[in-house]
Amino acid sequence: MAKPSIIAIDGPAASGKSTLGERLAQRLGYLYFDTGIMYRAVTWAAICKLGRVDDENAVSTLSELVEIDLRTPTIKDGRKADVLLDGVDITWEIRRPEVDANVSEVSAYRRVRKAMTVQQRRIGQRGGVVMVGRDIGTVVFPEAELKIYLVASVEERAKRRYREVILRGEAVEFERILDALRRRDAYDSGRKLAPMRPAEDAVILETDGLSITEVLEQAMKLVQR
Ligand code: DC
Repeated sequence: MAKPSIIAIDGPAASGKSTLGERLAQRLGYLYFDTGIMYRAVTWAAICKLGRVDDENAVSTLSELVEIDLRTPTIKDGRKADVLLDGVDITWEIRRPEVDANVSEVSAYRRVRKAMTVQQRRIGQRGGVVMVGRDIGTVVFPEAELKIYLVASVEERAKRRYREVILRGEAVEFERILDALRRRDAYDSGRKLAPMRPAEDAVILETDGLSITEVLEQAMKLVQR
């Protein structure tokens, strides 16, 4: 039985997409590609090079010029990939709160989405890829053979994100994370362009109370279906 060549995983922030995507890719020997990294890298570039993210034209032009690269990790510090912006390692910078706070705005810009989507299609069409994001099943690869949409309550997602941040040794308040997630959910699903939503043919996986192993087993059943 042929395995799906492109697997799309979408869903809200901290729904477990990246953990599932990474494990699934490992099991199948596929490339794992987290598309959120690209929007985060553009946001970080705008903060550093422009000092602001609200100038849509300037941010868009920047997104068309910068080179974003992913490569297998060269440092063992918990990273899943090295993220490079014009050759500079920005793996952890793109996880900073100022990126969290601004990435939704940047990812709603039309030209930014276009530039990122073109790159995502180029990488994905080689096949053998698990691609993770918000609009993979609806916009980037509507032809993907398997589409999974993960859902979990905002409280559960905030708890997961809080644990991750604390484990990295950073100080943060739980309420702040919860608030930021709520704001991003509203922004990501309310935007006009490629809003976050399940494709009509996506399989919805509800992950509240499930361990990553249980979610992975459900996803593997869908792959083998
Ligand atoms: O998955 P993440 O939290 O790293 O994504 C960061 C932001 O990027 C998120 O707020 C929405 C945006 N995003 C998007 O619009 N489309 C994608 N395919 C992936 C991410």
